[in-house]
This record gives sequence, C-alpha cells and structure tokens, in this order.
Amino acid sequence: MEQYIIRGGNPLAGEVNISGAKNAALGILAAAIMTDDTVLIENLPDVRDINVLLEAMESIGVKVERITRHAVMMNSENIGDVSVDYDYIKRIRASYYLIGALLGKYKKAEVPLPGGCNIGSRPIDLHIKGFRALGAKVDIRNGFIVAQADHLRGSHIFLDTVSVGATINIMMAASMAEGYTIIENCAREPHVVDVANFLNSMGANIKGAGTDVIRIRGVQKLHRTEYSVIPDQIEAGTFMFAAAATKGDITVKNVIPKHLEATTAKLLEIGCEVEEFDNAVRVVASKRLCSTNVKTLPYPGYPTDMQPQIGVALALAKGTSIVTESIFENRFKYMDELTRMGAVVRVEGNTAIITGVEKLSGARVSAPDLRAGAALVIAGLAADGITTIDDIVYIQRGYELFDEKLRSLGAEIEMVHSEKEAQKFRLRCG
Ligand code: UD1
Repeated sequence: MEQYIIRGGNPLAGEVNISGAKNAALGILAAAIMTDDTVLIENLPDVRDINVLLEAMESIGVKVERITRHAVMMNSENIGDVSVDYDYIKRIRASYYLIGALLGKYKKAEVPLPGGCNIGSRPIDLHIKGFRALGAKVDIRNGFIVAQADHLRGSHIFLDTVSVGATINIMMAASMAEGYTIIENCAREPHVVDVANFLNSMGANIKGAGTDVIRIRGVQKLHRTEYSVIPDQIEAGTFMFAAAATKGDITVKNVIPKHLEATTAKLLEIGCEVEEFDNAVRVVASKRLCSTNVKTLPYPGYPTDMQPQIGVALALAKGTSIVTESIFENRFKYMDELTRMGAVVRVEGNTAIITGVEKLSGARVSAPDLRAGAALVIAGLAADGITTIDDIVYIQRGYELFDEKLRSLGAEIEMVHSEKEAQKFRLRCG
C-alpha cells in the first residue's frame, strides 16, 4: 500500500527542476531500435512508464545500459524477436510505438492490441490505417496486431483525427519506407517534433514536424546518435498550477516557455502573475483566483493532460467556470474525488461546471489516472487538513520524485507504505 499523505495549507515557494518529457522519451526510445548502431539518450525521466518500456525492449533483445539515472546507451543489432509480450503493453500503452519502429526496420511487428484505459476508449485505427497505406498487411490475431510488408512504400496519408500516437507511429515506419510520404492533419505537439528531430539525428529525412503536414523521404539505414530529450511541459504545467492553487510563488526551471503558452495564458486569465525567462517560468499567485472557461484541444491549444490541474485551481476560484474536455471522454472521474474535498462541480457529458469555493478540506481520495492523480495532490496541498491519496502508482507513471520536488517547495507531503507510517505523519503534522 503506497499512498501520499499531505497536510495542506502551505503556499508553495521556491525553484523546481523539470525532468525530461515522458511522452517524448517514449517515442524516442522506441525509435532508437531502428538503428543497429549504439545510441545514447539523455535527459530521460526516471518514471515508471519509461522503465517499463525499457524492460519491454530488453525482452525482445535490445541491449540497454543505464549510464546514469537519466541516460541510457542502447544497442538493437541483436533484436531476435519482433513480438512484444502482452504484459508490457498492459502496463504501458505507448509500447505501441514499437509497431512503427519494428515495422520500419524489420518490415514486421507483432504487438498486443492495447486495451482501453482510464481516460477513455483510445482506439488505434489511425495508426493501422497509416501502416496499411504504407503497404503493410495489418491483421488482428489472437489479441495481437500483426503488421508485415515485403516493402514499405511512401504514401499520402490523411489523418481523420489529430492524433499524437498515430503521427509518431506512422512517421517512424515511413522513415524507413521506400520513397516519399506525406502525412496530413498531423499532431503538432512538442514531443512529435522531438521524435522527428531524434530520427533526423539518426539520418532520417523528416520535414514539417510541428506543422500539420509532415513530409518524409524514406532512407534505407539509420545510424548512431546522441540525443537529449526535451523538458516535460506537463510536469512543468503541473507545478505552475500548484503555485496557483496554493497561492504560492514557484519558478519552474529547465523548461521551454514556448511549449507552456496555453498553460501560461490560462494562469494569467485566472489572476496569476507569470514571468518568462529563457528556460524558466515563474508563477506567483498573490490573490484569490478568478473563474474562466477552458476547452482542451490538440497543441497549441490547451492540453488535455493539463485539464485536471486547471480543474482543481478553478474549484478554488471566485465564480463559475466551464471546463470542456474534447479529446478523451472519461477525464472527469477526479471530479467525484474533488467533490469529497468540498468542491462544487456538476459534470454534464464532456463539460464540467465548477463553482469555486473559498477552501477545500482534506479527505481520503483515489487517483483515477496519472494527471488526475497529480491534480488531486495539488488539491490536497491547497486544502485545509490532511489528505490521503490512494492508487499513487498512476502518478508514479509520469512524475519523477514528485513528493520530493514538492517538499523542496515547502509542501508537507510524504509517501507512506503502511497505516503506521501514515499515523506517524499525522502525529507529526497535527
Ligand atoms: C498522447 C499522450 C497523452 C495525451 C494525448 C493527447 C503519449 C504517450 N500520450 O496520447 O498523454 O493525453 O496524446 O494529447 O504521448 N484517436 C483515434 N484513433 C486513433 C488514435 C487516436 O480516434 O487511432 C483519437 C483518440 O481517441 C483521442 C484523439 O484521437 O480522442 C487524440 O488521441 P491521441 O493524440 O492519439 O492520444 P495518444 O497518442 O494516445
């Protein structure tokens, strides 16, 4: 039993260093198997999703050497098996990136079909459509996606929905297809650009990543590289909202402020001061937050992965706010937990109507998924009294040393493993 236990009420203040972007790193690690040369990847976050993907890769024969906590050397010349075990895909959906990478390099991949997840149904029809357009035969057999091609050929692909996963997966396979591929209606997220930059550093020829049209000239071989992953804009945004909700003053360091523009804009709207530096952002919340409306959209719109964090801030803001979730259908589960802490919320379909309260009060709550779990931690930090958060395994999927980083900002939070430890915390913190 691992839980976070929090005594809320302290305004968080100080500086915090942001780790490498989990979602970029997942794509980059998968893409790294596309060369037989040894590849060095730095600024990897030490989080569960990354470690599980590395294990999945080792299970098919990739040699992984951890140089430091945040850097690995990988060599994939001896991949003996293009079939990934279900156990891994169950634990981490993004192992589906191995389909694009294996298909590109070996023209064959067998990866279990990822199931649904806590935030919605998450189909992968667009990934499959892209692989088929490149000339692969794709079947679903015994729960596996089996993709195979004699030759992959460049193609003109239009994505019906803007999808980060489909854009990256198709981009990887097309990098080693014969000829020219154009992908239209692409996702423009910073991690799409980071994976493209990584592939280009291995000799791929990808242009336009970061716009809605990506053009790829396939190459036969990719080569060695050394690459550092971009900072995690969602981790950064989470700390920015922690400042807002606790009336704090936090400088988030090692970020690319441009990637945080949608978050920054909303923080300004709800009454925070935001100061931008070259690679840091400072958020100061000196007065009560005010309400606003927000709708999640693909980048550069407001990210769905930042929806629960703003939801918590708005639960404490003066007035009524409307939050519209337009990417995933099941991302308001945390609202029930927040209601248990005293928030006033009505969820209708993909909309949450939030009437802000002056104070939340501590309660025992469960993390329903990764980002919602982090948002509940913020709620606990802002609330009066003690909050206990169950199911923190979700949070550990994507936040490195979350409790430690928060403590360095003055938070009273601890990870406990037993009721006895929880009791000790309560006695100490009163
Ligand atoms: C990625 C992120 C996730 C983030 C999401 C949206 C990773 C590992 N995960 O997830 O944290 O919340 O982007 O920014 O990077 N869709 C289809 N068919 C498909 C693929 C997607 O209909 O084949 C739909 C989805 O149901 C969803 C929308 O497209 O409504 C966007 O999903 P997508 O961008 O693909 O999310 P992921 O890549 O899974």
